[in-house]
Amino acid sequence: MTAVTPPLRLLILGGTGEALAVARALEGDGRFAPVYSVAGRTRNPRLPDLPSRVGGFGGPEGLAAYLREQGVQVLLDATHPFAARISANAAAAARATGVPLLALRRPPWTPGPGDHWQMVTDMTAAARALGETPRRVLLTIGQLELAAFCQAPQHHYLVRSVELPEIRPPRCECLTLRGPFQLEDELELMRTRRIDALVTKNSGGEATRPKLEAARRCGVTVIMVQRPPVPEVAQTVPGPEAALAWLRRRAGGT
Ligand SMILES: NC(=O)c1ccc[n+]([C@@H]2O[C@H](COP(=O)([O-])OP(=O)(O)OC[C@H]3O[C@@H](n4cnc5c(N)ncnc54)[C@H](OP(=O)(O)O)[C@@H]3O)[C@@H](O)[C@H]2O)c1
Repeated sequence: MTAVTPPLRLLILGGTGEALAVARALEGDGRFAPVYSVAGRTRNPRLPDLPSRVGGFGGPEGLAAYLREQGVQVLLDATHPFAARISANAAAAARATGVPLLALRRPPWTPGPGDHWQMVTDMTAAARALGETPRRVLLTIGQLELAAFCQAPQHHYLVRSVELPEIRPPRCECLTLRGPFQLEDELELMRTRRIDALVTKNSGGEATRPKLEAARRCGVTVIMVQRPPVPEVAQTVPGPEAALAWLRRRAGGT
């Protein structure tokens, strides 16, 4: 008789396309007993067909307690590169409990020939970098951090976000859309809306990269908000495929 290996108890810290890709690939895979977790920032979060939970854990101590109580054997941090607090909490909770942590860290975007990028450290600096002369600005920074642009009301803003922002600058139009976005659509958006500056976070990844190619082709200046620091962790992978390969090795499969 062969011994049956119990499924690996995995907590996925999600809220990104990559996290969802990993989670969906594990649906129906008997080697894993995953739970998918989101913060609850959006009203209709995309969830996999897996046990899921919504809402914070209560800091690093709360997350550590959850890991212990649920007998979690592997923690996957697949959160967004700008979600620095949860990544720090994941590193601290993994240290405190000894639960192995795998961090999915997408490589940042880097400028190439023909790109006009201005690097800034935060949204206040991004708003300042737009300058005094009125511009037509595409803002793809989400819906929660638009307050800084209220201080630069001379510009016209086109805000693209998953949900309608509550706080937004005075001269502003909103597009509620969720990526991925295609190059042709990005080119059309920038041309028809006569965009001359794009403000974006350096999120990395493929789903929203076409806007950068479109900006280069249209001669649009990119104000690139740099990533917040996140803790160094021992085990990192750059994307969902590598994360799945790591997890399958861990679960003893291929
Ligand atoms: N920031 C962005 O630009 C961005 C973009 C796309 C998607 N997201 C996703 O949106 C979520 C929130 O982002 P954020 O920037 O607000 O995060 P954050 O500042 O790093 O986290 C703030 C708090 O939200 C809770 N939290 C965050 N992610 C969680 C998760 N996956 N499951 C359970 N609780 C979570 C934690 O609360 P407790 O301390 O109480 O545990 C955390 O301390 C993340 O899941 C992230 O992947 C963020």
